[in-house]
Amino acid sequence: MNNNIKKIAVLTSGGDAPGMNAAIRAVVRTGIFYHIEVVGVHLGYDGLIDNEMELLNVRSVANILSRGGTFLKSARSERFRTPEGRSRAFENIKNANIDALVVIGGDGSFTGADIFSQEHDLPVIGIPGTIDNDLYGTDDSIGYDTALNTIVDAVDKIRDTANSHDRLFIVEVMGKDAGFIALRSGVAVGAEAVLVPETHTYIEHLLNKLGRERRKSKSGSIVIVAEGDGYGGAYKVADAVKEKYDHLDIRVSILGHIQRGGNPSAFDRVLASRLGAGAVDALLGGRKGEMIGLVNKELVFTPFEKAVKHHKELNKQLLSLAEILAL
Ligand code: F6P
Repeated sequence: MNNNIKKIAVLTSGGDAPGMNAAIRAVVRTGIFYHIEVVGVHLGYDGLIDNEMELLNVRSVANILSRGGTFLKSARSERFRTPEGRSRAFENIKNANIDALVVIGGDGSFTGADIFSQEHDLPVIGIPGTIDNDLYGTDDSIGYDTALNTIVDAVDKIRDTANSHDRLFIVEVMGKDAGFIALRSGVAVGAEAVLVPETHTYIEHLLNKLGRERRKSKSGSIVIVAEGDGYGGAYKVADAVKEKYDHLDIRVSILGHIQRGGNPSAFDRVLASRLGAGAVDALLGGRKGEMIGLVNKELVFTPFEKAVKHHKELNKQLLSLAEILAL
C-alpha cells in the first residue's frame, strides 16, 4: 500500500455515459474505506484548470448509483490540450495537496491523461466510461450495455411501424469511429444489415442484399448504420437505396443522444463499481499511467497510450453472425 497517497481527485471527462455516477461512488467510498480523502472535480479537466473542486463524503454519493449522466458534470476541454492549461491544472492539484487522480472517460480523456502524467509527477488511473466501447484493454466500457438496451428498446418500437407499413427503416446509432454499438445492437434487434466504419465497401453489399430480400417479399426491415460509417450516415444510405429501389418505402431514424441517457443497467452498475474500487486499489498499489479494464471478467491494466492507440477489433464472429442470421 502506497502510504504517500492521502488525497485522491476524481473527474468525469468527454461524453457522459450511464454508470459514471456508479464509478464515482465506488472511488469515493473505497477511498474513504482506506481513510483517504476524495475530492470531486466539476466539469472534467476544465474544473481542474478553474479549481472547481469539492471534498466528497460517503453521503455526497448517496442515491447516485442508479442515475444516468454524471453528477460531477463533464466536458471536452480545449484548454487542457494546451501546456498552459495543464500547468495551471497541476498547480491547483498541488495547492489542494492532491496526490493522485482518477479520470473516468474515453479515448480523448486518456490522451490528455497520458500527456498530463508524463509532464507532471502525478499518478493517474483511467476508468473506461464511453458508450462507444472503443478502448483497447477492456471487454466493456461503462455505459455500453445501457446504451445497447436503450437502442434495442427503441428499435423494437420502430419495427412495429416497419412491419405495419412494410417499410424499410434506416436507423442511425452512435459510434463516430467504431461500430461496436451498431454491430451488437444489430444482432440484438435482428437487423437486415449493419453498416460500420470498419467495413468500408458495405453499401454495394447492402444494395444487392436488399434486392434479394425484397424479391422474397419480406415485410418491414431494419438496417442499422453507425454514425461514422464510411458512406456518410443514415440519410446518405437511404438516398442510395432509394435511387436503386425507387418503389421502397424508406424512413430514416436517428436515435441520437437518447443512447447516452437513462438509468444504468445492472451490468453497468456492477462494472462501474468494480472498476472504481479497482482504480483506488491500483493507485494505493503504486500503479500509474494506466487504464483499468475488465477482460474475461478479470481486472487488467493497460498503459494509456496502448488503450487509446491500439486498435480494438470488431468481433469477426459477431460480424458473420449478423450476416447469417439476417437471411
Ligand atoms: O464519444 C461518445 C459519443 O457518444 C460518440 O459516439 C458520439 O459521436 C459523440 O459522443 C457525440 O458527442 P457530443 O455529445 O459531444 O455531440
